[in-house]
Amino acid sequence: MNIVIVGQGAIGLLCYHRLSQAIINQQGDNLVSLWPSTPTTLSDYLFSEMNDIAKSFPFTMADNQLIASADVIIFCVKSYQVTEALKAVDHLISDDAVIILTHNGLGTLEEISPRLKPSQCLLALLLTQGAKKVAPYHVKHTGMGHSDLGIIYGTLDSIKQKQLLEHLNKSLKQLSWQENIQQAQWKKLAINCVINPISALNDIENGEVNQKAYQRMTEDIISEVVAVATKEGVILSEILLRQLIHNVAKSTNRNTSSMRADVRNKRRTEIEYINGYIHRLGEKHKLTTAMNTQLWLAVKALEDKY
Ligand code: PAF
Repeated sequence: MNIVIVGQGAIGLLCYHRLSQAIINQQGDNLVSLWPSTPTTLSDYLFSEMNDIAKSFPFTMADNQLIASADVIIFCVKSYQVTEALKAVDHLISDDAVIILTHNGLGTLEEISPRLKPSQCLLALLLTQGAKKVAPYHVKHTGMGHSDLGIIYGTLDSIKQKQLLEHLNKSLKQLSWQENIQQAQWKKLAINCVINPISALNDIENGEVNQKAYQRMTEDIISEVVAVATKEGVILSEILLRQLIHNVAKSTNRNTSSMRADVRNKRRTEIEYINGYIHRLGEKHKLTTAMNTQLWLAVKALEDKY
């Protein structure tokens, strides 16, 4: 199974590292390659384990030929980069390649489905592993967690599915197959709708989102997400989501959310695919999403000031 990782951010390098260390053929050849979004002349990268020990490893860079022969292509890019990243390579990708998306938020499937061939299969990989880019081409693994994988477009035969799961489990660990990945994606979206904008706008760590001051706001965000999800055919429980989000904020209490990190580094955030997605679906279904809309506008205003 030839695998190409697209993107050299924290998650891209983490996936590349874990997969290239674990997946080699009987001749000892590396079957994983990296397709960076900006060309590099580097031949090595640095990887720091959770115990802070950093080691240098050589890359295998993907070229057009490797992309064309890839069985699996994992797009480790931000939600707002998915369409462009796919456009850059989709003329090369084989008709039966499996495409995997790993980003936060929802809404990219609507953007890219017109570009997909009926024989292609698109999967969502919901990673809860933490990774931090210390410098360009230096990533640090900051946390282990459970990950989910499932189909969001097309079909996958059971042999290929089993093989893929085995390969990814060998490298990424604690990975399970979800028949209903849409439900898991919505739960992740609800977590991001609460933790990301609150932590980014108030410049606080994840754990502080559980403070009483943000409780009412959290409840409003969740009830709007649940109402919109219901219209989309996804049934979520407000009580369970509140508990889940509380637990995620608690277990990642000293972490900086990806949106807070983006704002601090004056980078574009994924707000359009998080609270912005809820806002757009609210308009579509004629539902008020006052709190999500307010947070979407507030984060956009912050980005406009950079
Ligand atoms: O976007 C993030 O930072 C993460 O998805 C989460 C779960 C909010 C934890 O930091």
